[in-house]
This record gives sequence, structure tokens and C-alpha cells, in this order.
Amino acid sequence: MRADVITIFPEYLAPLDLSLIGQARRRGVLDLRVHDLRDFTHDRHRTVDDTPYGGGAGMVMKPEPWGEALDRLVAGQASRPVLIVPGPGGMPFTQAMARELATEDWLVFGCGRYEGIDERVYEHAAHLAEVRVVSLGDYVLNGGEVAVLAMVEAIMRLVPGVIGNAESLVEESHEGGLLEYPVYTKPASWRGLDVPDVLLSGDHGRIASWRHRKRLERTAARRPDLLHTASAITSADLESVP
Ligand code: ADE
Repeated sequence: MRADVITIFPEYLAPLDLSLIGQARRRGVLDLRVHDLRDFTHDRHRTVDDTPYGGGAGMVMKPEPWGEALDRLVAGQASRPVLIVPGPGGMPFTQAMARELATEDWLVFGCGRYEGIDERVYEHAAHLAEVRVVSLGDYVLNGGEVAVLAMVEAIMRLVPGVIGNAESLVEESHEGGLLEYPVYTKPASWRGLDVPDVLLSGDHGRIASWRHRKRLERTAARRPDLLHTASAITSADLESVP
């Protein structure tokens, strides 16, 4: 999988050198490249923003550097990437979207700052890529970089070969539409708090049903909105949760 990130803060993406994603890059499983948008400017101040037409607060990202960056990276290539522009006005980023994007060969992330990117960039980019504006959630960040860190991690960990233990992907939160069950490790008793007996029983059937129940209870308590769309759930399950 190849991914390009265009940003005015390349240093923001430094964590992508660390941990499992960093290792996958070094092993050549992921080809992740970070580009400084200011490298596509031509004035002394390397200007990337200007005041909005029509007035209003803040600054808007100028179209020219974006056009040049996208032309340089994408135009004339044999394949067409998916261009992801993070923004609070986008479609919600979900595990299902991460799974789908993990099957793509090439992703380009465009990090906006200020009040956003000149709208014509999206129109131009649609000739070069499949453009998606994607939101991490209903809150506002200062720019797309933090969102790209989150999305790259969520997507790339699903790319075959990035995570050693593929089994750990199966039972985690949101797979099957339910939240994860609680986990414990040694010691069996800590500060007067005991690990549930069933987990020490060695009875795999009982453990599996206890875990399933905990996933249901947790989902009902924290994310009741998920219960009705979860695939890992039966109608008996639904009747049994509060
Ligand atoms: N940029 C600013 N806010 C954002 C959000 N909620 N999600 C993704 N990108 C953003």
C-alpha cells in the first residue's frame, strides 16, 4: 500500500515512523511519503493562504499550491488514488470505512488548515482521484494532521502484513458491531480486586459466552446506538440487555 500525505506541518506526521506502522514502513509493506505543501509555492514567504472572498473570519488555503502538489504526485500516474481530505464537514470515519480503504493500493491525504481549502481544489482533484472528505467525529480540530494520524493507523493496521498477530484484529471493538469485552492479566488478585473466576476456569465455552455477554452489556451501556446494527448479536441477545 502506498500513501502520500500533503501538509504544511510535515513534522506532525513524525509518529508514523514509530511502532507497528514504522516497522511496516521499514519492512517495505507500507510506502508512506510525507510532502510539504510549501514546496509547491513560488513566493519568498512560501504563502499557502489568503483572505476569503465574500469576507468572514480566518484564512483560506490557496488553490495553486494544492493544484501543483496534486499534479506532481498524481497526474500522469498509471493508477488513480483515493484522495482523503479530513474535515469536520466530512462523512464519518468508521471501522467499515477503514476496512474498505485498507484494500486500496494508493491513498493520498490532504491536510487542510485555517478555514479550509479553496473549493475549486476539490473540483480539480476529482479529475485525478476519487475524492472523499472524511470526519473523525463531531468536534473541530485545528487541522487535518491529527486526523490523518488516526486514520492512517486505523487503515494501515488492517493491511495484510502490518500487524503480526492477525487474530488480534478479529475480536476487537467494532468488529461485529459490538464493543470489546474487558481484559485482565496477572496477578489474579490486585489491591483486593479479583479477576472474574470464569477466566481462570479453563472452560473455553463458558469464557466465550461470558465475553459475549460483557460485549453486549458494555455496548448497551456506552453505545446503545450500535446494538441494532451489530452483526455479532442475536434477537435473544437484544432482549436480554437492559
Ligand atoms: N479537521 C478539523 N476537524 C476535523 C475532524 N473532526 N475530523 C477530521 N478532520 C478535521
